[in-house]
Formats: sequence, C-alpha cells, structure tokens
Amino acid sequence: MRAADLLAGHDTELVTQATEFYALPEVRELVTPGRTDLVLHEIATRGWYDHTPGELLIGAKLAWRNHARCIGRYTWQSLKLLDARSCDTADEVAQACWEHLEISSNAGRLRPVITVFRARRSQADQIRIINPQLIRYAGYQSAGGRVTGDPRHVGLTRQAMALGWRGAGTRFDVLPLLIAVHGQPPALFPVPPRYVLEVPIQHPRFAWFEGLGLRWHANPAISDLCLAAGGLRYTAAPFSGWYVGAEIAARNLSDQNRYDMLPVIAERMGLDTSRHSSLWRDRALLELNEAVIFSYAKAGVYLVDHHTAAAQFTAHVKREASAGRSVPADWSWLVPPMSPSTTPVFHMALGPPDLSVRPNFVRQDELAWQDNAIAGEEPR
Ligand code: ARG
Repeated sequence: MRAADLLAGHDTELVTQATEFYALPEVRELVTPGRTDLVLHEIATRGWYDHTPGELLIGAKLAWRNHARCIGRYTWQSLKLLDARSCDTADEVAQACWEHLEISSNAGRLRPVITVFRARRSQADQIRIINPQLIRYAGYQSAGGRVTGDPRHVGLTRQAMALGWRGAGTRFDVLPLLIAVHGQPPALFPVPPRYVLEVPIQHPRFAWFEGLGLRWHANPAISDLCLAAGGLRYTAAPFSGWYVGAEIAARNLSDQNRYDMLPVIAERMGLDTSRHSSLWRDRALLELNEAVIFSYAKAGVYLVDHHTAAAQFTAHVKREASAGRSVPADWSWLVPPMSPSTTPVFHMALGPPDLSVRPNFVRQDELAWQDNAIAGEEPR
C-alpha cells in the first residue's frame, strides 16, 4: 500500500510538517532519496517517527536561523548537538543539563550548544524544564512587596519553595531546576555550583563599583522553549550561545522591574537625579554597560557588545541574501536596548515576522498543574 493511502486518518499536522521538513533543501542534501516515504510509512504504521541525529542537528540549526528574535544568528552553522533523547527520568534530564552547562560554558569560551531530549508523545507524556533558563536568580518577595533578587523570578522562586527548596536569601541565589516528566509535577534539582560560571561586576575606573556586589552568570541557556521540527515537538531542548553585554547591563541589572540599579549608580557617581534632563539614567547606564563588558573580559568569559552583535547581524542578513533567503526578523526584539539608533539594526526595514516558519523555537502549552503567574509571563 502507498504511504499516502495508509496516512488517511492520521495526524495531518505531523504528516504535513514532516513532508515540508524533508522538502527543505538543507534537509534534502542530507538524506537519501527514499527517506520521506520511509518517514510517512513510519507515521502511518506507528503514528510516529524519529529523526536521525543528522536530521535533528539540521532541524535545530534551522530553528535558530529562523528565530526572528535572535540577533546572534551569524554563527548558526556552528551549533553543536548533544543528543539526550535516551534520557527518561527527571534525574537523567538534570544530569544532561549539567553536562550542557559544562560543555557550552567551556570555562568561559562559550560555544553554541543545544541539548535535545526526546520529543513529546502526547500532552501527558512530555519532558519539561519549567525554568526559563538553566541558570536564573531567585526573587524573594517580602510581605510588604519588596523583592530581594530578580523580581522576574518571584513566581518560580515561590514554586521552588513550595516544593521544599530554601535559598540563602541573597540577591543572586541560583534557582534549582524544576523538571517535569510523564505528566507528573516537577522535581527539584539544585544546580551544582561547579556548573555555575559567574562574573563579579567591577568598573575599569570607579573603584566603588565592585562594592555594589553585582554579578551575573556567564551562560544564557534558554530552557523553556519548544524546538518544533518536522512536526515533532521537542518540549525540552535547552540551547545557549553567549550574552550581549546590553542584555545584562541595559535590561537585567537596570530595568525598573528587575535589579533597578541606575538610581544607585547615579547617586554614587554624584549625578543630579532630581531632573530627567540631566540624563543621569543615560550616564549611569553607559557606565554599567562598560563595567559588564570590562568584567567579563577580565574574567575570561566571552560576551559580545551590542555594536559588534549588530554588525554581525548585518553580515548575516547580507550572507542570507546572497544565498537567496530573507531573514525572519522581529525588529522590536533585535534592536539593542541601549543606543539603538547608533546600530544598523535600528535603520533596517525589517518586515513583520512570519511566526509560522518551521523549524523554529516556539512557546509551550501550559501544563495542567502550572499556575498562570509563571506560564503567562512573556517578557521581552
Ligand atoms: N535576555 C536573556 C537574559 O538576559 C537571554 C536571552 C538569550 N540571549 C542570548 N544571548 N543567547 O538572560
């Protein structure tokens, strides 16, 4: 019987997306001519199919290349795959996450890596890492509403504490991983300190800056997005590259609803904070950005400044154009949060992103036990 006949009545989305995946030029050049039929036959007989490691790697690379919100796609071809599809228990998933941190952090010479766990079989049978990133700082909210730590993670911190976790109570306590498998509520896995590479923030000229006690982690490992490739949903697929300095300095440490450090820094600099027009925020922001870039370099931890990142993105757009491709782009995410108009990205005519492009990294469905305060957050 032909695959097409066998397929009647099967998951049409899986069939359509698998067919589209094997028709992509990057996939076609990798597989043998009969592969698509084989896959369709698998779906027809088992309701399912598996990617080969090579297919999974190109799927992940294309998901990165297609991801409209990433400014760092110039190096998309360098992505390394850690194939963790044999992990089944939450404990095995945690071990693979530590391995991800070790290999991708690479003692400060960060390299783009994705660890892929097995694809979702059903809503009830999926692996999920609840934390938005493998390394995140706790936010403890007092009864009065004041937060110690990262206010973005108040909900996650509460959830970890409800599961029995107790942090030291500092502004930079690394949260445990919350890993859920087989439809069960999550289990807790404190991140062993040896996998947490961090950088204390100091300033090249202001000796007092170090006394602010600021630090940040080296590795931005996104862990809550789903890798959608070939109709399969890899619901746990943590991936990481390296930071742009402004993500830390012009957002995490300076947003008013994050660490809100600009008033403190401006005060220490002796700026006139009584008037907006003194531009104290801008001056403090510049010094904080310089401090982050300086500190990462001093610690031997790779990080890119926003001008270099923007220049690399421009080169990526050019290279893609010469390959006959356009670059899916979400302008409001790509523009650096600091001095945007001084970078070429600000001036690019980037059309509205087509979010249906696959492969891609996509948002997840909410899990049955999840409270909306956590799942509902979609901060930029
Ligand atoms: N903006 C996020 C953060 O500050 C990280 C997002 C991914 N960034 C990256 N450079 N890969 O933690």
